[in-house]
Amino acid sequence: MAHQSALIAEDIQAYLKQHEVKSLLRFITCGSVDDGKSTLIGRLLYDSKMIFEDQLAALEADSKKVGTQGGEIDFALLVDGLAAEREQGITIDVAYRFFSTEKRKFIVADTPGHEQYTRNMVTGASTADAAIILIDARKGVLTQTRRHSFLVSLLGIRHVVLAINKMDLVGWSKDVFEQIVADYHDFAAQIGIRDFTAIPMSALKGDNITEPSAHTPWYSGPPLMRWLEEAPVEDDLQDKPFRMPVQWVNRPNLDFRGFAGQIASGVVKPGDKVKALPSGRESTVERIVTMRGDLDQAVAGQSVTITLKDEIDISRGDVLAAAAAPPEVADQFESTIVWFDDEPLLPGRPYLLKLGARTVTAQITEPKHKVNVNTLEKLAATRLELNEIGVCNLALSAPIAFDPYAENKDLGGFILIDRLSNRTVGAGLLHFALRRSQNIHWQALDVDKTSRSAAKGQKARVVWFTGLSGAGKSTIANLVEKRLHAEGRHTYLLDGDNVRHGLNKDLGFTEEDRVENIRRVAEVSKLMVDAGLIVLVSFISPFRAERRMARELMGEREFVEVFVDTPLAEAEKRDVKGLYKKARAGELKNFTGIDSPYEPPENAEIRIDTTQTTPEEAAEAIFRWLEGGFDPVI
Ligand code: ADX
Repeated sequence: MAHQSALIAEDIQAYLKQHEVKSLLRFITCGSVDDGKSTLIGRLLYDSKMIFEDQLAALEADSKKVGTQGGEIDFALLVDGLAAEREQGITIDVAYRFFSTEKRKFIVADTPGHEQYTRNMVTGASTADAAIILIDARKGVLTQTRRHSFLVSLLGIRHVVLAINKMDLVGWSKDVFEQIVADYHDFAAQIGIRDFTAIPMSALKGDNITEPSAHTPWYSGPPLMRWLEEAPVEDDLQDKPFRMPVQWVNRPNLDFRGFAGQIASGVVKPGDKVKALPSGRESTVERIVTMRGDLDQAVAGQSVTITLKDEIDISRGDVLAAAAAPPEVADQFESTIVWFDDEPLLPGRPYLLKLGARTVTAQITEPKHKVNVNTLEKLAATRLELNEIGVCNLALSAPIAFDPYAENKDLGGFILIDRLSNRTVGAGLLHFALRRSQNIHWQALDVDKTSRSAAKGQKARVVWFTGLSGAGKSTIANLVEKRLHAEGRHTYLLDGDNVRHGLNKDLGFTEEDRVENIRRVAEVSKLMVDAGLIVLVSFISPFRAERRMARELMGEREFVEVFVDTPLAEAEKRDVKGLYKKARAGELKNFTGIDSPYEPPENAEIRIDTTQTTPEEAAEAIFRWLEGGFDPVI
């Protein structure tokens, strides 16, 4: 112990050198404090006579120093799994601890088992080779054991230890041990954990941790540490075709253009033919550049800069791949999504999807089903709530290069980010591309938006009225349409109440239905703008995310947001349709402003304060704004 720490303190390089040759196993521990998880981790660190946390901090700092000098050291791996979340400024509650033995080095992800367990577990498990699932021998297989195992299997961890702990408290009973193994066996088989090693132990007393325990003569398997030392590390990544997501394009001067990134799989050498995706352009590798000099070859896990023989257009987020075995490129997928956030996943709402170095916008369809991880039942769902897991289709704003998660975690695993709050709200795994997206193409049309609106002598656009129910949206929109019509403009008014009698009559007022309501109306408005019309849209449209989606569907300056600003008290006082009264009496659920939120616009082009302005004045002002451009605050 003492000499190890001394070496770390005095000569970090020598220490690292000594460790470079050993293989590295990354594993995750699942269980709660009550199961003895902290004791087990403490025991592993202690028995391996390794470093403690204060030294870990020193190591991290030193690793960074070495890292900037170009050294390739494994300690960077400590934070790898968190990189995406780090960029989002999210603190994830996962502690990574490092230890090593004569044979191997280890990084253990310690994930707390509280409320946010899926977020932490996915973070910890996404880079793990093995998992230790802890069981308290007195309690046996619990709901949380099943949940943890399900996630472990989902995230593709193939090496599993069932650590049956506190055996001393059940008198080292072989029967108790075997019963737990039998219980677990059935569940494990159902979720695709085909193989696991069950070890009877006492983390507290140190039984079957490093040495076989005298208390379990009936157990002939390895103690935990031996299992950890011998578990196969997933180094088959090198045997897979070459892939490298481009993290950034390094262009210090006109003579040098390199593509920097970490190799996700395979091997690359100068002279190899590579393909850039999604563009599909090919070239040949010229040099593999590192701070330490050029390499003859680089393998999965290494961070390098690649230069090519030809000048082809490649940007951050593209993927360089073996030309003979490139990944697929697609923009629609089936996926499994694990939801982390307190706010539910709402189908149809645009989220940011980050895969490798690429970020695109994704819309998620209604879940095909969600999974009850305790019973493995598939349940119908219209949304995903915190900690839920479901299978959904995804449609992206642009095609991406990918591999199914089962084949390549780096090119098949993604995170989802809320566009307004910037929080990481979920993670997912791509299964396969939907063929239909590949079979539907854009049909080129000769008569286009410009010619259609020119024929009508107007600028096509959407005037989007938002505000509480009873705010006066429809009244004002109606007057604006009349005014435009009188002027000879070609218009159409889409009104919430009316559209809900036809196109949207299948929708109610839950959050997911409102999202779908606005998604459809936004798409219809887009078609009408394409037809050259001035479209007036009068919907509560309570959520910023969907109003933003509508705005982004239209072209530059085609979307004019009008906030019909009537305070709740005023709308309620007017209560033209008597709905506020009903809502207050509890006869109408999810009523906007009462028990369903309204998010006022922050940057509306036009704001109308209806307590100061009559509908006629407002309509006239909007008309003048549209015809000429006017003061946005009315
Ligand atoms: S939105 O929220 O999805 O944009 P939309 O504008 O289509 O709503 O429909 C709102 C109209 O539906 C209201 O003007 C009101 O007449 C009626 N309505 C019925 N139930 C509700 C409710 N729970 N919340 C809001 N409006 C409701």
